[in-house]
Amino acid sequence: MSQFAEIQYGDKSYKLPVIVGTENEAAIDISKLRDESGLITLDIGYKNTGATKSAITFIDGDEGILSYRGYSIEQLAENSTFMEVSYLLINGELPTAAQLESFNYSISRRTLVHENIKKFLDAYPGGTHPMGVLMCTVASLSSFYPNSLNPNRSSEEVDRTIHRLIAKMGTIAAWTYKKSTGHPYMYPNNKLDYVSNFLQMMFGHRTEEYVPDPVVVDALNKLLILHADHEQNCSTSTVRIVGSSHANIYASVSAGIGALWGPLHGGANQAVIEMLEQIKADGGDAMKYINKAKDKNDPFRLMGFGHRVYKNFDPRAKIIKVACDQVLNKLGINDPILDIAKQLETVALSDPYFIERKLYPNVDFYSGIIYRAIGIPTDMFTVMFALGRLPGWIAQWKEMREGNEPIGRPRQVYIGHPAREYVPITKR
Ligand code: SDX
Repeated sequence: MSQFAEIQYGDKSYKLPVIVGTENEAAIDISKLRDESGLITLDIGYKNTGATKSAITFIDGDEGILSYRGYSIEQLAENSTFMEVSYLLINGELPTAAQLESFNYSISRRTLVHENIKKFLDAYPGGTHPMGVLMCTVASLSSFYPNSLNPNRSSEEVDRTIHRLIAKMGTIAAWTYKKSTGHPYMYPNNKLDYVSNFLQMMFGHRTEEYVPDPVVVDALNKLLILHADHEQNCSTSTVRIVGSSHANIYASVSAGIGALWGPLHGGANQAVIEMLEQIKADGGDAMKYINKAKDKNDPFRLMGFGHRVYKNFDPRAKIIKVACDQVLNKLGINDPILDIAKQLETVALSDPYFIERKLYPNVDFYSGIIYRAIGIPTDMFTVMFALGRLPGWIAQWKEMREGNEPIGRPRQVYIGHPAREYVPITKR
C-alpha cells in the first residue's frame, strides 16, 4: 500500500507521507502541508484529526476494542487492580511484585494533604459541585509544592510528583464529599490498599472502625480500571495541550478535570442517573424518551449513549453492565432505574435511528448505577471518573513531555470582516 497520499490543488500536486501504526491505523502526515502549499486542513471537533503518536492506549471503534499498553481491557478488568493498571499506563509495563510494592508504598506515604486544604474546602458555599472543588484544589497543590512545578526536572522528581498527585487526589475527592455531608474528615489509613483507603475516607467514621466490603472494593477497582485511559479524548487532549506549554502537571490535570466535567464527556455519568430518575418519576415510559431523543426539535439526548469513536458497543459498558447485576445482587439491592436502563438499551438497539447512527451504550450508561449502589452520591460520579482517569492523564502528559512535543497551537480559517478603517464614536 502506498506510503504517500497525493493532493491536487490548482495546477499543483503535493505528496504527503502516510504513517501506519502498530494496529495498521493509517494517517496522512500534514506537518509540511502549509509550508509546501499554503493550505491548512479544517476538522472542527478534530473528528478525523490525529494530534499525536501514542503508545499508551489503543481503541478500535468499529470492533469495540480497547487495550492499555497492549493488554485488553477485559483481561485487566478481570485480573488486575487499579494501582497495577496505573503503574502499567504510566511506566509502560506490568510491574513485578517488588515494583508494585514500591509504587504502592511511595503513593501510600503521600496521601496526607496540607491542613490548609481544609480552609479551601471550608470557603466553598454549600451545594458547590465537587468537580469545581476538585479542579481548584488540584491546581492549588502547585502552591504547596512549588519545587515540583518544573516538568523538566529529573525523572525521580517527576515520579515523586506523579505519586504525590495520585495519592492526594483520592484524599481531596473523599474530603470534598465529607465536606458536603458536614461529617468530619477521615484521614488516610496507610495500612489499607489505595481503593480501600479511599472508601474508608469516604464512608468511614471516627466513632467506629470501617471495614471495606470486598464486593465494593472489587467493583470500585474494576470501575477505576475501566476509566483509567481512553487515548485522545476531550479531557486527555486538554491535559496534553496545557502540558505542551510546559505548564506543571497540577495545572494540566486541573484543566483536564474541567474538560471532563462537561455532560457530553465525563459529566454524562451524572446526567444518565438524572435522566433515569426523570424517566422513573414520569412513569417509566422508555419509549416516550426514546422518541424525545430522536426528535430533532427536542433538546433531550439519551445520555450515556453514543460515542465519537465507538461505532459498536463500548467494551467498558459491556463489562460494567455485567458488574451492575453482580454488585447489586451481592449487596442485595434492587434498583428500579437499572431496569429502566436495560429497557432503554433494548428499545434503542432495535430502533433504526440508533442503529443508523451506530449509537450504543457508552462507559457512562451503567457506571452510575454501581456508584449509587456503593453509596456514592450522584454529584460525585464525575469525581470518580476523574479519579479513575488520573493515571491516564498522567501517562499521556508524561509521554508528551518525554517526546518533547511542541506547544499545541492549532490554526484556523478566518471568516470575519475584511480590513476596515476605525470610525470615531461620534460618527457611528
Ligand atoms: C465519554 O472520547 C472519549 O473517549 C470519551 C470517553 C472517555 O472515556 O474519555 O469515552 C467518555 O465522554 C463518553 C460519552 C459520554 N457522553 C454522553 O453519553 C452524552 C450523550 N452522547 C452524545 O452527546 C454524543 O454521542 C457524543 C458527544 C458522545 C458523541 O458526539 P459526536 O461524535 O459529536 O456525534 P454527534 O453529536 O455529531 O451525533 C451524531 C448523530 C447526530 O444525529 P444527526 O445530526 O446525524 O441526525 O447522532 C445523534 C446526533 O443527534 N446522537 C444522539 C446521541 N448521540 C448522538 N441522539 C440521541 N441521543 C444521543 N445520545
